[in-house]
Amino acid sequence: MSLSPSLLRLAAARLRTPSLAAGVASSSPWRLAVGHPRLAVGPVTAAAPAFLARFMASAAAAAPAATPLTLPSGLRSPTDEDIAAFRAMLPTPGSVVTDEDALAPHNTDWMGRFIGRSRVLLKPRSTDEVAAILRHCNEQGIPLVPQGGNTGMVGGSVPVADEVILSLAGMASIEAFDAASGVVTAQAGVVLEALDTYVGERGHRVPLDLGAKGSCQIGGNVATNAGGSRYVRYGSLRASVLGVEAVLPSGEVLAGLTSLRKDNTGYDLKQLMIGGEGTLGVITRVALACPPLSAAVHVTLLKVPSWANAVSLLAAAKGQLAEILSAFEFMDAPAVKLAVTHLSHVRDPLGPDEDAGATDGPFYVLIETAGSSAAHDREKLDTFLESSMESELVTDGVMAESAGQAAAFWELRESLPEAVGKAGTKVFKYDISLPMDAFYRIVTDARALLADAGADADVVGWGHMGDGNLHLNVAARGDVAAVAAALEPWVYEQVAAARGSVSAEHGLGVMKAGAIGYTKDAVSVEVMRGIKALLDPKGILNPLKMLPRVGEEKTA
Ligand code: FAD
Ligand code: MLT
Ligand code: ZN
Repeated sequence: MSLSPSLLRLAAARLRTPSLAAGVASSSPWRLAVGHPRLAVGPVTAAAPAFLARFMASAAAAAPAATPLTLPSGLRSPTDEDIAAFRAMLPTPGSVVTDEDALAPHNTDWMGRFIGRSRVLLKPRSTDEVAAILRHCNEQGIPLVPQGGNTGMVGGSVPVADEVILSLAGMASIEAFDAASGVVTAQAGVVLEALDTYVGERGHRVPLDLGAKGSCQIGGNVATNAGGSRYVRYGSLRASVLGVEAVLPSGEVLAGLTSLRKDNTGYDLKQLMIGGEGTLGVITRVALACPPLSAAVHVTLLKVPSWANAVSLLAAAKGQLAEILSAFEFMDAPAVKLAVTHLSHVRDPLGPDEDAGATDGPFYVLIETAGSSAAHDREKLDTFLESSMESELVTDGVMAESAGQAAAFWELRESLPEAVGKAGTKVFKYDISLPMDAFYRIVTDARALLADAGADADVVGWGHMGDGNLHLNVAARGDVAAVAAALEPWVYEQVAAARGSVSAEHGLGVMKAGAIGYTKDAVSVEVMRGIKALLDPKGILNPLKMLPRVGEEKTA
């Protein structure tokens, strides 16, 4: 099957663009990146720890820090005696950190928006050490914040005051891998990218991928029930996480580290830890089902003239690419423009667009397929691309013909959080689920709202379109307080009216704890409070996160 001449022409011309020529060795513009697993390492992520630290430093300098909050009564700050007790519990050198400079990055969230003032970070090396810490803190009423890679987007991983920071970074062993089932068992502190590399070398892939892969930890991923770009293929982590070991606030260990696929014995307690945002227990080990690595991976970047076309393209991709579709990500043109403007290493392989900034298009769609047969996948993809061009759903496109190009396409997509951070002195981030008919409208409405208010801001949208998950981002300059007043609660009200969710994948943390009531009913919130009270009666774990403070619930 051959491609339509128009797409072939467009793509061939684009693929010869020198700026994107890295790694191109073939004379055929359509020789694909077959045989390459989905590249986990792009320049942004390969350098992630340094990049994150750099970004956090500049963001912290630019953005006003949130005022520390007052902890609920009954909780107290750790004293020098407590710190001495922690030292006795954690004999490995470097396990108790009190140096202010060393603590600074752990007190600051990735956006530089939430800044705590903890004076002690603990780095246990085993589940027993975590249990000893929690027992002590529970007896003494000392609050703690579990911290993974500290890449969370809602301020859940940093103290709101002077809580103890409990880092899982010292528990980073991959303990077992079962080749027959693909189940990997790992301590919570294993970095996602390291886990993916490990199982990749054994013919499998982690069913989760996201831009922070070089820093975030599998325990943090499970605690946030992270979504990411493979969700459209493998679904929620809730199904892939087979077992969780977690330490409860009492210090008791919930020993749920099973690798069983089926287990209907009572309530599924691990689900409380998955997406529990560290409010109910500290995840110490995880058993994760990893699907086989696909032999053939194709990555395509398409330009779509209108939102209606993007919606039709998604339906066509789900229908025609079906089981080989492994990512369907969208970016609006203003978001892409921010990336190429603010990040020198990022290129737009489809070139600048005169229409960028228009209210309804163009849009960029990144489609990845992952299947077992290059020839079969290619045939499906060719048919899909041909019909998309013929029906004018798509006006331009490029298909990666090397691993380097595939990585560059992904880099463009995954660089957007960093780019938006550089574009404003304060970034307002909304991670929302919306039905397709309301999906992009909120971006254009927010743009109009802020333009009417005379705000100096870039309003951009991107996200995991295949899962109905939009990232609405506003990079504001100048009077950011006025921008905040215009956006909130307006955004949450729009989401509630469309029957969406105020948090699709980032969780609630401290940023959105008060907003849960917009899209969750009051009975559900009360049940959640009951579960929290049962497992953490003193409220020591991640206080003021996820659930609203009494009297501060917002409802639609
Ligand atoms: P942290 O940020 O350290 O913690 C997050 C929350 O989990 C906190 O409430 C913390 O207390 C709790 N926690 C951490 N570890 C544990 C543990 N062992 N036990 C109990 N609680 C724990 N998120 C997505 O869902 N999809 C994306 O596509 C995505 N892309 C991102 C891209 C970039 C560039 C960045 C910076 C972030 C992105 N995120 C995304 C957000 C973030 O990376 C995820 O939420 C990630 O899962 C957090 O993992 P972490 O180890 O950094 O956790
Ligand atoms: C993404 O998909 O880019 C992430 O969830 C991060 C973000 O929204 O900034
Ligand atoms: Zn996302």
